[in-house]
Amino acid sequence: MAFKHWPLVRDLRFAQKCGRYLRGARKRRPDLNWDEFHRIARHFKQDDMGSFPERGYLFQLASDLPVDAQVVEVGSWMGASTCFIAGGLKGERMKIFAVDNFRGLSTCGEDAAWYNRHFRALGANSTLEIFRENFAALGFTPRSEPVVSDSVAAAQKLESKRGAIDFVFIDGDHSYEACKADIEAWTPLVKRGGVIAFHDFGSRADGVTRAIFETIKAGRFAEIVGVAGTIIAFRM
Ligand SMILES: C[S@@+](CC[C@H](N)C(=O)[O-])C[C@H]1O[C@@H](n2cnc3c(N)ncnc32)[C@H](O)[C@@H]1O
Repeated sequence: MAFKHWPLVRDLRFAQKCGRYLRGARKRRPDLNWDEFHRIARHFKQDDMGSFPERGYLFQLASDLPVDAQVVEVGSWMGASTCFIAGGLKGERMKIFAVDNFRGLSTCGEDAAWYNRHFRALGANSTLEIFRENFAALGFTPRSEPVVSDSVAAAQKLESKRGAIDFVFIDGDHSYEACKADIEAWTPLVKRGGVIAFHDFGSRADGVTRAIFETIKAGRFAEIVGVAGTIIAFRM
């Protein structure tokens, strides 16, 4: 086991990095419940899918949504990003639809190889149970509805939500074609003034960056809401 994965070393690194992030975040947005963010971050100490600024930005975007917001996440994996979003939501009827095949089925070759390695290490062929356990551990189960499906098929299933979704976060298949298809499938569901955000903009997933650039050039987004790490968010 690498030195940085020793439990004590890992805990110290987590405390330092998270503490540093939280000091800045509390100054920037003193109105948000950063203790809740910290609780979620502690639960996902071993998570390697996003940085603190990215996780914090998702939490902030969700916290800024209206009461009882309806949210879709495409690509939930084990539920880490989903929980950071869920943690920011408020109201009795808020809901996050967590869309994923939960099996790492992706047309992006690099991703597919990564998922294969992870599933071998997990000794499982789905992350759905782990997703559910994470939601339960944080007391978030009532806030989520896992949608076990391919992304585009899920958008069709949720057609009744057309124009009614407050926030869509896309972090699914990172190929150019799939990201384009996600944009086509999910933008009609976002309400006017709602937000759509993407992970991996400007990362080595260049297909995602290209698909987003083309959509910006086509004038499909009303404005840029913000950027944090490789997350970029737009208002529709
Ligand atoms: C990078 S992971 C998501 C990580 C997660 N958002 C986080 O930050 O914790 C991408 C996920 O997208 C899912 N996925 C890939 N292509 C998909 C598709 N076409 N439809 C549904 N899910 C897909 C994979 O199964 C995987 O769980």
